[in-house]
Amino acid sequence: MNKILKAMKPYPMDELIKAKENLKKQGKKIYDFGTGDPKEPTAPFIREAVKNAIPEVSQYPTVKGRKDLREAVSSWFDKRFGVKLNPETEIIPSAGSKEAIFHFPLVFIEEESYKKRVIYGTPAYPVYERGTLFAGGIPNPVTLKFENNFLLRLDKISPSILEETRIVWINYPHNPTGAVAPKSYLEDIYEICKEYDIILCSDECYTEIYFEEKPLSALQIGRENVVVFHSLSKRSGMTGYRSGFVAGDEKIIKEYLRFRSSFGVGSPEFVQIGAREAWKDEKHVRERRETFRKKKEIFEEFFKNEGFKFLDVKATFYFWVKVPEGISSKDYALHLLKYGIVVSPGEFFGKGGEGFFRIALVPSVEECKEAVKVWKEAHKTLIRSKN
Ligand SMILES: Cc1ncc(COP(=O)(O)O)c(C=O)c1O
Repeated sequence: MNKILKAMKPYPMDELIKAKENLKKQGKKIYDFGTGDPKEPTAPFIREAVKNAIPEVSQYPTVKGRKDLREAVSSWFDKRFGVKLNPETEIIPSAGSKEAIFHFPLVFIEEESYKKRVIYGTPAYPVYERGTLFAGGIPNPVTLKFENNFLLRLDKISPSILEETRIVWINYPHNPTGAVAPKSYLEDIYEICKEYDIILCSDECYTEIYFEEKPLSALQIGRENVVVFHSLSKRSGMTGYRSGFVAGDEKIIKEYLRFRSSFGVGSPEFVQIGAREAWKDEKHVRERRETFRKKKEIFEEFFKNEGFKFLDVKATFYFWVKVPEGISSKDYALHLLKYGIVVSPGEFFGKGGEGFFRIALVPSVEECKEAVKVWKEAHKTLIRSKN
């Protein structure tokens, strides 16, 4: 087995899946707030577009992707962020953002170079670290703090480390905390990356799930050394289709495109056609946001009433919540599991996650209402047992 794999902890979600399976075997009603994979149906017009596009013979897709998809992405990006991207040179369709995030360092990290650090915040989506390790880079996690609104601050990192850094990953709106980045923050990080010749990779797969101001793209600040990663998974409820895109600095996109054929990860053409239609439409996205808003309000009220401490959810479908005093996040998650409620203990997302748990607003609005009643009971029992 590959030595990097051997040294790795199991993919965090695997543990949750096992625990859930045991509950299922026991026939228990499960309220699954674990994995961030909502179950709202994909809009019918997208499914139709995919169905109608399935050809008699489906051949290898190109790495460059369909021109009409790149044009639809370019037009969406301009409308949404006011940034014009050249569909020929600045956009690559990807098979969801996960593969693109994982593969990116394989192209841009040179093992022999002194400049091979990859900085990312922690707690975090685990793929930034994994991609770095497989590429032979040096992971440089930086703990994100509640008091800094979970913003990854490069100005606190020593110049010698920044000199050795090739890539910085940011992810706002942020998984798992739901934090969003103000413009001034993006401006600062852009300038630092430019100064130290660092590629600023901005994972923007949650920009469309917002409840207040529209989140920004790093490309609104500048294009030099900036690459953004977008996805239809969260925006359009298309996790199973595997479709997203990478966009930004032309010289980086050109290099990335050149090597992506080695990975063979183009989405099938019929998925690209469905994706093209999805990027052209905003109505279904507005409707999804409204559904998540309802779920968010149910839990906002619940957590406030029960005295939980959490970051206000302005975007994403996650709540990042402090566990009650005197219990670890893993034990709290295990306690809830007895009642059929699945949450992710904070440490699943790496250092800095201890003492928190994350819920993903995945169950339906009705199930969320039910779950809150069950959770109240679970919480009461816990408090009683401690007194
Ligand atoms: C922060 C973040 N980035 C990327 C992804 C990958 O999404 P996808 O590959 O479905 O586009 C996820 C999925 O949960 C995520 O939370």
